[in-house]
Amino acid sequence: MTKPLFVRRAAQLVTLRGTSETPVSGKRMSDLGIIEDGSVWVEDGTIRYVGHDSDVLAQVGERLSEADQIDARGKVVTPGLVDPHTHVVFAGSRENEFEMRLSGATYMEIMNAGGGIHSTTQATRNASEEQLYQETLPRLDRFLQHGVTTVEAKSGYGLSLEHELKQLRVAKRLDDDHPVDIVSTFMGAHAVPEAYKDDPDRFVDIVIHEMIPKVAESGLAEFNDVFCELGVFTPEQSERILTAGKEHGLLPKIHADEIEPYRGAETAARVGAVSADHLLRVTDAGIKQMADAGVVAVLLPGTAFFLMTEAANARKMIDAGVPVALSTDRNPGSSPTESLPFIMNLGCLSMNMTPAEVITAATINAAHAIKRGHVIGSVETGKQGDLVIFDAPNVAYMQYNYAVNLVDTVVKKGKVVVK
Ligand code: NIG
Ligand code: FE
Repeated sequence: MTKPLFVRRAAQLVTLRGTSETPVSGKRMSDLGIIEDGSVWVEDGTIRYVGHDSDVLAQVGERLSEADQIDARGKVVTPGLVDPHTHVVFAGSRENEFEMRLSGATYMEIMNAGGGIHSTTQATRNASEEQLYQETLPRLDRFLQHGVTTVEAKSGYGLSLEHELKQLRVAKRLDDDHPVDIVSTFMGAHAVPEAYKDDPDRFVDIVIHEMIPKVAESGLAEFNDVFCELGVFTPEQSERILTAGKEHGLLPKIHADEIEPYRGAETAARVGAVSADHLLRVTDAGIKQMADAGVVAVLLPGTAFFLMTEAANARKMIDAGVPVALSTDRNPGSSPTESLPFIMNLGCLSMNMTPAEVITAATINAAHAIKRGHVIGSVETGKQGDLVIFDAPNVAYMQYNYAVNLVDTVVKKGKVVVK
């Protein structure tokens, strides 16, 4: 039995209460359920009491002396941050391509010349399972140091059954060993491997008939994702892949309308995707269809920033009733960062989201984007004891004092894991 943990007297305790059932959209994204002088009692990994300090004290009664106490006066306490879109399991790095882009090459030019996703695929195929594990571990440490307590992780640098499963096994081991929880997504359709360049449909058939059934059988992934993009997978191929995944119990996600408008959002709505991600070039029709179908928009302003292009139109999506989540897109090519708080800064600074909206987007809506809205993403009785204490007096300050790490303490399942 571990001791209860009592986090006390936060200047602002962000609860996001009442948001576990469905993703939060529209004006409700601004309602953080803030309690001033707020306290949280966590026991056996689970949140037991939440409220104004005096109310929680009354409920705790004589048990107060049993708990480890943390004084959060003058600070903001939020749910553990959730990153719903990463490619964090990979080998190598691509700073050489970064320099090429700085001299004028584009992301797609580099990829089409055999670099980009292909070069990370080569490095990941060559890496042993142990090496992949060791290379990924410090990235998870950095996520945790930035307040991220759960990440989604995609495969997609194997592009063959053998190496996709290797990536997924590494994700599973890391989930078991590291405080950060990992939710896995199969992304065999991340790129058309060089060997199938002239017959991409053949590769699509392999994904559908050989990879998806085996991945589903392994139990190593919950979601199935595809890079629907001009020159990568067409909307039709994407739909076939996502439908096949559904038939095997893998929930659909999609990289949609990132570089060109390409009916990605429309495809997401049609297949009933849990989320459509990127959406820099989404059309108005696509936005409407996503809102109607309840697809979460996972926006990645760090990717736009790093590729030096204009970010997605978050305001338009929020105003149209699409629930918006935020993510790092952590990967070696288009977004090499673990700082979800910086992505939240960019949510404000490059997408005009409000400080309240970016918190909703990186907590409860991010949890909904990976079907974890009932477990994490808000500070409510019965939820997992994942909390972050920020060295900031209010939520606006967290965005105003940008690009620095304001994380003071991280609590995972009731245990202090960063101090
Ligand atoms: O989400 N867009 C496709 N996939 C990743 C990038 C992967 C890479 O460049 O290695 C993304 O941006
Ligand atoms: Fe991605």
